[in-house]
Amino acid sequence: MTPAPDLPTFSARLIRWQKLHGRRNLPWQGVRDPYAIWLSEVMLQQTQVGTVIPYYLRFLERFPDVASLAATGIDEVLALWSGLGYYSRGRNLHRAAQVVATDHSGVFPRSAEALQQLPGIGRSTAAAIAAFAYGERRAILDGNVKRVLARHLGLEGYPGEKGNEALLWRQAEALLPADAGPEAMAVYTQALMDLGATVCTRARPRCAACPLRQDCMALREERVAQIPAPRPRRALPERETAMLMLRMQDKVLLRKRPATGIWGGLWCFPEMPVDGDAAAYCIRHFGLEVSPLGHMGQGAPLDHVFTHFKLRIHPQPLRVVSAPPAAMRDEARWMTLDDALAAAIPAPARTLLLRLGPPGRAQAEQSHG
Ligand code: ADE
Repeated sequence: MTPAPDLPTFSARLIRWQKLHGRRNLPWQGVRDPYAIWLSEVMLQQTQVGTVIPYYLRFLERFPDVASLAATGIDEVLALWSGLGYYSRGRNLHRAAQVVATDHSGVFPRSAEALQQLPGIGRSTAAAIAAFAYGERRAILDGNVKRVLARHLGLEGYPGEKGNEALLWRQAEALLPADAGPEAMAVYTQALMDLGATVCTRARPRCAACPLRQDCMALREERVAQIPAPRPRRALPERETAMLMLRMQDKVLLRKRPATGIWGGLWCFPEMPVDGDAAAYCIRHFGLEVSPLGHMGQGAPLDHVFTHFKLRIHPQPLRVVSAPPAAMRDEARWMTLDDALAAAIPAPARTLLLRLGPPGRAQAEQSHG
């Protein structure tokens, strides 16, 4: 399509739109400290702004700089991350802080290229940090921006497909403001993010309010609802596991998982093979006599989808009927439901804990910010 000859550039329209309609007063806006910007960008990678804000503020209060984060243990980091999900982000954050402290004398790398060498910082996150903290002229391409650009281009096919993704990166670079100063780069970068989050949304986008509507191919061809095309479906292999929901009075038994592998370092219900005998397993492994427990529903299977496989979880609600042995192993702990919900636990463990009873007040406040 040939746009009207006097149509301002893509970036000029976005920058103008941002100043009029962009999000304001987010706690990381106007911040120039690369550490705080990095923290916000990592938290925002898979999580919405409203959820992130209280976590971001709590985290910054406890760890105001990269040195304090590098100096703490991973357990405290994961505890502060509890409820945000995608814990590998927290683990990478901690590792990156240690790399900055030791390899960079505590000073944050000054360019997107150097930032991208740190654990957990991909190309788009590195570009966003560099644009916000240093005004570097770098293209971002997170999930929201992919959608904006895919629609604007009228992209056929799944944007995550290799060729399409390369094309979108080229487009993101081509559309950067030509000679933006540092301030304009920060505004432009925030504009792309905000447009994707508030106007060019996946469902019910507000095209009439969009500064890109004049030359948006998806809008012109009435394909906005079809773009971006979904990820092609592939059948995931399935695994099964039984999770022992052992109750003793008001407590449940959680076990800390090994540092590596799925849910590394998180607290979770003990697991056993699905075809095993739960009572015999509990005697053998914990020295506990148990009897079945629970109303209908608590034992219903639960599916959890990972990138590479699907895990079917068979919960086994059980009550301890014997006296517990004097000592449990270090990595196993009896916790109240509230303590368990506040610990660093994977999403399905949260779902199963909530089946046992509603969270108390303290937890409700924490999880909803
Ligand atoms: N998503 C990712 N980065 C963001 C930011 N800086 N502001 C709002 N949403 C975001």
